[in-house]
Amino acid sequence: MEKLAILGGKPVRTKPFPAVKNIGKEEIAAVNRVLKSGVLSKFLGVWHKDFYGGPGVQKLEKNWAAHFGVKHAISVNSATSGLYAAVAATGVGPGDEVIVSPYTMSASAAGILVCGAVPVFADIDPKTYCISAETIKKVLTRRTKAIVVVDIFGYPADFDGIMALARKYKLTVVEDAAQAPGAKYKGRWAGTLGDVGVFSLNYHKTIHSGEGGIVVTNNDDLANRIQLIRNHAETVVKAKGDRHLAHLIGFNYRMTEIEAAIAAEQLKKLEKFTKLRIQAAEYINHKLKGIPWLKPFTVQAGRRHVYYVLPFQYDEKLAGVPRESFVKAVAAEGVPFAQGYVEPLYMQPIYQKRASICSYSCPKYKGKVSYAKGICPVTEEMHYKKLVFTTLVHHSLSRKDVEDVAIAVVKVADNIGSLPR
Ligand SMILES: Cc1ncc(COP(=O)(O)O)c(C=O)c1O
Repeated sequence: MEKLAILGGKPVRTKPFPAVKNIGKEEIAAVNRVLKSGVLSKFLGVWHKDFYGGPGVQKLEKNWAAHFGVKHAISVNSATSGLYAAVAATGVGPGDEVIVSPYTMSASAAGILVCGAVPVFADIDPKTYCISAETIKKVLTRRTKAIVVVDIFGYPADFDGIMALARKYKLTVVEDAAQAPGAKYKGRWAGTLGDVGVFSLNYHKTIHSGEGGIVVTNNDDLANRIQLIRNHAETVVKAKGDRHLAHLIGFNYRMTEIEAAIAAEQLKKLEKFTKLRIQAAEYINHKLKGIPWLKPFTVQAGRRHVYYVLPFQYDEKLAGVPRESFVKAVAAEGVPFAQGYVEPLYMQPIYQKRASICSYSCPKYKGKVSYAKGICPVTEEMHYKKLVFTTLVHHSLSRKDVEDVAIAVVKVADNIGSLPR
């Protein structure tokens, strides 16, 4: 028996893992071209040919739309901005409810509150960690106007059922694909599965431009609204002939030419980076497959997981030690693992206290939403008890780095009995 590092043994690894490296000579050359041109942004917040931005922004949007096979790709300065713009463009407002996942980054739901509407949390499916038609159905009311479906961890939600339900009840579906560029569902790209999809280009994503986001849709009307919200709608609608959109408030959600130049180069690398992620994840899953208390993710037929994170479900009863002991033991071997993702969103103070949030006090709102602990039992079980994950599947890792991840977990598994119960 090998002594675990946490009990004084030699760790599998003392060298830190390499950081993700996305930026190469292509991005540097592209940025230099922008800098030399002197035009770092060309947007004008009035109705003018530059209302749609400069050449770099428009080229990125054209390439993104072609890559994902959609009619419109609209660049924004973050997925957070994109999510707000998408939800607002659907016409959601005070008195409405919008169903959303509680197991996601906070921005998936925050835009709903900004619209004056009420987020209603549906539980996740433990097979996908995403909300599903079944869980959405349970929280649907007469007030439901839209659904924000999140392809969490880089895996697409089960969209067939969700879209059928949405069509039946005339609900608009916003797909938060911030973590899932390159993922697929029955031959279609994640991000293109709802009425409008949002990708993130922030620094932590498979491809990035520092900060940034892209909204995609095949719906001309939604695209127009999103472009207006991106760029000072209230100044533009009159001259543009969009007086029926006088209620839209616009922001400055514009992407710069520099970010667009980086993102256009990154897009060319998306497939290569994605394949390396999948290879690393499949290798680790294969090596860990005999561990009875660590259930790997099962990719359903016709789906492609892009492993923004590599999730497992930990079974404390079978393992005989708490999840925390496992995570600490693996960390001591030099391999960071996380337990749980973010707390279910409804546990955040903004939902628990509802302080000064007009969505709830608005006279138009006739519903009664609960954010009590226990409303999404599967989410809570995953977060507080079962989920463990690693982000060590990215494209900058060597074969040896990926092997070390598996070796460390197998070592802990082989010696789990030596950990205090
Ligand atoms: C699921 C999800 N939605 C939205 C966002 C917001 O993205 P951004 O940082 O580009 O605003 C993130 C960012 O991590 C995310 O993971």
